[in-house]
Amino acid sequence: MKQDCDTSMTQTPTQAATAESNTPLTTPSVKALISAMSLAEKIGQMSLAQPGEGDPVAVLAPQVRAGTIGAIINVVDPKAVAELQRIAIEESPHGIPLLVGRDVIHGFQTIMPIPLGQAATWNPKRVREGAKCAAEEASLVGVNWTYAPMMDIARDPRWGRIAESFGEDVYLSCELSAAMVQGFQGNDLANPNSVAACAKHFVGYGAAESGRDYATTNISTHELHNVYLPPFKAAVDSGVASVMTSFSDLDGIPATAHGALINGVLRDEWGFEGIVVSDWNSIPELSTHGLSANDHEAAVAAAKAGVDLEMASETYNQHLANAMAAGEVSIEVIDQAVTRLLQLKIDLGLFQNPYPNDQTSQANAQEKAQRAAYDCALESLVLLKNDHATLPLNPTAIERLAVIGPLADEGYEQLGTWIFDGDADLSISVRQGIETQLPKKVVYERALETSRSRDHSGFEAALAAAASADAVVLVIGEEAILSGEAHSRANIDLPGAQVELVKAIRQTGKPVVAVVLAGRPLTLSNMINEVDALVYAWHPGTAGGQAIADVLLGHATPSGKLPVTFPRHVGQVPMYYNAKNSGKPPSPELVTYIDDIPVKAPQTSLGMSAFHLDVEHTPLFPFGYGLSYTHFNYDKLSLSAKRLGPDDTLTVSVEITNSGDRAGEEVVQLYVRDPVASITRPIRELKGFQRVALAAGERRRVAFELSTQALRFYRSTGHGGEWRLEPGVFAVYVGGDSTTTLGARFELSDQ
Ligand code: BGC
Repeated sequence: MKQDCDTSMTQTPTQAATAESNTPLTTPSVKALISAMSLAEKIGQMSLAQPGEGDPVAVLAPQVRAGTIGAIINVVDPKAVAELQRIAIEESPHGIPLLVGRDVIHGFQTIMPIPLGQAATWNPKRVREGAKCAAEEASLVGVNWTYAPMMDIARDPRWGRIAESFGEDVYLSCELSAAMVQGFQGNDLANPNSVAACAKHFVGYGAAESGRDYATTNISTHELHNVYLPPFKAAVDSGVASVMTSFSDLDGIPATAHGALINGVLRDEWGFEGIVVSDWNSIPELSTHGLSANDHEAAVAAAKAGVDLEMASETYNQHLANAMAAGEVSIEVIDQAVTRLLQLKIDLGLFQNPYPNDQTSQANAQEKAQRAAYDCALESLVLLKNDHATLPLNPTAIERLAVIGPLADEGYEQLGTWIFDGDADLSISVRQGIETQLPKKVVYERALETSRSRDHSGFEAALAAAASADAVVLVIGEEAILSGEAHSRANIDLPGAQVELVKAIRQTGKPVVAVVLAGRPLTLSNMINEVDALVYAWHPGTAGGQAIADVLLGHATPSGKLPVTFPRHVGQVPMYYNAKNSGKPPSPELVTYIDDIPVKAPQTSLGMSAFHLDVEHTPLFPFGYGLSYTHFNYDKLSLSAKRLGPDDTLTVSVEITNSGDRAGEEVVQLYVRDPVASITRPIRELKGFQRVALAAGERRRVAFELSTQALRFYRSTGHGGEWRLEPGVFAVYVGGDSTTTLGARFELSDQ
């Protein structure tokens, strides 16, 4: 089932059908509009309104007609969108169409895997085509702007929004953010199938203390520039149309009022010309943060910091005119914001056609989206354990397969977070996927009502089903609502009585395959030894069940790799592969466990290292990890040079062999270490990856081009900072995960 989602098909705008208008639509010049608009209209363009619970047309039409809102959010009835656009074009003072925003995060009606699952594909192509399909479905109802991708680096699995992220790594997040932007926006924003993307949340939102959503952050200047900002830079370089500010604060300044970052870094340094939108209500929240005393001050702070558009709240509409009269905000600030907003509307072609696309193409769009959802789900599945080659199950040898668990037949829960418009009726559950392939051989038991249930009353039937079968597929994890915004968890074990269920099923002595559906890395130490095989499926989306069935039954070989470290215990968090070495890095010979400490042992600092006494110092599964049904061997690492000048590019190549008897795909990963620099640098950093398909027995040399640009890092000077390329010896590693030891060294000289 491989086919690109080609969205280049011709669409028939429904302008004539939906807006019975004779007004010829022409695109005015921004300059002419700005000089003709009243101040109230200009400020109106800076306001993004939501209809709340009411009828969107009834609620929003008066303001649209008056020209006091320029954008709307959460209106997805195509008739309502069309009517509001008609009013904007025909009845508002200057006929300016509306931006129509919606959180189209990982699909619209057809749902792709959650972004963290998409990241596990390590495949920009899948991410791009998923976004393309989502844009096509969303533009059918008139949405022209999405609030994605979220590119917050996420190193804390307690944080509920890790589900929306591309994980912990900078390079992977940069590549996938850029791909998602390209998917949503296409080559031309004015294409009726394109929507404007939004890089969010600028910046540092993922560093919320203790993973508690919205909590404050503590990010050093080095981390900000080397870790949190680069994905935004990558999005800007890919032409992202908009950027959303973060709810969090950064070194004392809430992101929504952070002029040094918005006007400074984003606009002046990077040359971003698109719009900046606040997050929902984040302007009045400047007062809750304690940066402003009231809405008036909050509006002034956000406008001056460079926030062009206010989402959901109304402080701009209520206070900017007075602030201008009082000389607190200049007309230049307002005109610049309005110029950017109008330019986006022009770029989107809205002055020509702001209306929803032709509904007759819906079936076509959905069909393409479902293929893309399947391809993406398939590559997102990470095989974490497979003792005694339990997987793949042999369909012909199986007489009876027990499919058990609260998430086994849950078309809705498998979609994950942020699926406002997702259609659970399109989902294929794991049970359905398996039953299609093993008709009449599946015995299904739910065992627990939900992933959180503690009631064991369903265990008996589940154990009987397991006992009657040749093998058990246990589909467990987290319901969709346990991750996402404001859904952080302090305990990231499998919730409810699921671990007890796993242990009980284990007692039947049948081979047990766990399939875990979740919005984050869960701590699996308390159950991993109770199963023979484990597939981590994230929330895999509409086509998840089909993809999972294909992998379990051997019609496809798993190839996903972890985009995030799996800790053994929540107390290890944050735990990420690209950490600093510290002066006392742990190693097996240096760690001591709690039970090994003699009673009344005297305190000493000799031989100590950075670890916890009560848990192994390594993660349960490292970043980049993922097994296959075949084996890949790496050897003959070679470098094109041992010495490089500052403008040179190094070719790093390795021989990879599929030594098993099945075809498979491997994600080959390239890491770099800068062991000595003028500031301490991470133990390793990902600098390249390639997905390589190899037939059984095939051997291939895979080459990476490593530019010296990739060796640069940001160093703060106390008064600002600079990107530096420092000469010295570097180590390079290539392999199938972040712990690979196949390495070589080269030297970078300064000339
Ligand atoms: C979230 C944003 C989202 C916005 C609009 C906020 O609460 O933080 O990511 O785009 O709501 O729904």
